[in-house]
Amino acid sequence: MADAVAGLSAVTKSYRMDDVTVPVLQGIDVEIRPGCFTVLLGPSGSGKTTLLNLVGCLDRPDAGKVVVAGTDIGGLNDDELADFRAENIGFVFQSFNLIPVLSAFENVEYPLVLAGMEPERRRRRVSRLLDAVGLADRARNRPGQLSGGQRQRVAIARALARKPRLVIADEPTANLDSRTGAAIIALMRWMQQKFQISFIFSSHDSGLIKAADDLIVLRDGVIQSVRRKPEEGRAAATATAKREDEVGGAGADAPWAAPRAPLPDTDFSFLQDGTPAAP
Ligand SMILES: Nc1ncnc2c1ncn2[C@@H]1O[C@H](COP(=O)(O)OP(=O)(O)O)[C@@H](O)[C@H]1O
Ligand SMILES: [Mg+2]
Repeated sequence: MADAVAGLSAVTKSYRMDDVTVPVLQGIDVEIRPGCFTVLLGPSGSGKTTLLNLVGCLDRPDAGKVVVAGTDIGGLNDDELADFRAENIGFVFQSFNLIPVLSAFENVEYPLVLAGMEPERRRRRVSRLLDAVGLADRARNRPGQLSGGQRQRVAIARALARKPRLVIADEPTANLDSRTGAAIIALMRWMQQKFQISFIFSSHDSGLIKAADDLIVLRDGVIQSVRRKPEEGRAAATATAKREDEVGGAGADAPWAAPRAPLPDTDFSFLQDGTPAAP
């Protein structure tokens, strides 16, 4: 797959605990399709987080090759890897990982401050992102003053702030009730389709599995199966996701009362105000 957003070949990874080496990934060959919802499935301990950390350039393999957005990360030193990660990858975590002393606005703004973006442009982009996740009226709230679903929406806005090619979400709905989880999935689906960003998840959430374009099943550190939805199927899933969005409920935490009437494209011009997310 020439246009894969990420590819792993012959990747192995083990952890050292005292004198014991625990093999975790044992020869992984897999590609992540661009512009898709890819879900990584597998029992606890099968290596999902380890694999996501490699795709997310948070860690390096013991052996084998990891290529993300066309770059072989083995060729980057640690500083270059950190810059590459910040520019290309967004993260959403199970426990949200927001900075507690910062407001929702400041949490989303933080990666843009680090990127040295000019303040006016930064504020504009953050406002639009908070708007896109339905939290314009919570911009000043700190994470402790937000519900779980709202926190995860802030985390999604933050993950998208630098227009990543790839968003990595490790069990993003695990700490949410099923209704809030479904709304978060609809929101991410909508963002993915709108911006053609690739999403890769680990999850046991049946709603997320249903929404997946591609399912990768991991067992004991090896890939057991890869199921990819054909292009026609993807289009159909897209249509379904849109319909589900539109019937999404309203209310305090019915977040993505999704396209409350699909937002006009012009609201998303922040994605055009710099280098494009994808070539
Ligand atoms: N930092 C670490 N040090 C030692 N062992 C680890 C570390 N991270 C994960 N492991 C071990 O690696 C295996 C796979 O973990 P993980 O990738 O977190 O699996 P999953 O996300 O599928 O539950 C587990 O046996 C776990 O205990
Ligand atoms: Mg895990």
